[in-house]
Amino acid sequence: MKKTLMVAAVAAFMMSGFVATEAVAGPEGKCKACHNFTMKDKVGPHLKGVFGREAGKSGFKKHSKALKNANWTWNEENLLKWVCNSKNAIKELTGDPKARTKMPPQKMCGEKGKAVVAFLKTL
Ligand code: HEC
Repeated sequence: MKKTLMVAAVAAFMMSGFVATEAVAGPEGKCKACHNFTMKDKVGPHLKGVFGREAGKSGFKKHSKALKNANWTWNEENLLKWVCNSKNAIKELTGDPKARTKMPPQKMCGEKGKAVVAFLKTL
């Protein structure tokens, strides 16, 4: 099962071309400290299928209150904000200036952020 997922992930990555290639070499490597790209949770929730999914609904047990009660769906726009600065993004997305997330800001902004989000779409 695990091996099948790995093979599928590698195949998806190879088909997705240049942007994802760059992401694997750089930007997305950062996420691996806390995230798995398979169905397994780590320090953070697994990211398989995160694009287009409702925020905070992957089944991860240790979500912050803000993400547990999230009412948005992960799309291009909010993921770009999230990987650039999750600390600011959580306030904006919840509409609560006091909202906090357990994920530290990753500073993957602009082109780097786009590469990361392009990679997330392949998961
Ligand atoms: C230092 C650890 C850490 C790093 C590095 C990290 N994250 Fe996270 N991430 C978390 C934690 C913890 C959560 C859960 C946050 C919460 O519940 O407040 C999270 C949540 C998320 C979510 C929301 C998932 C959902 O189901 O709603 C996304 C998307 C995400 N991270 C993407 C990324 C990406 C992309 C990167 C790399 C650019 C990254 N993270 C780097 C710890 C990390």
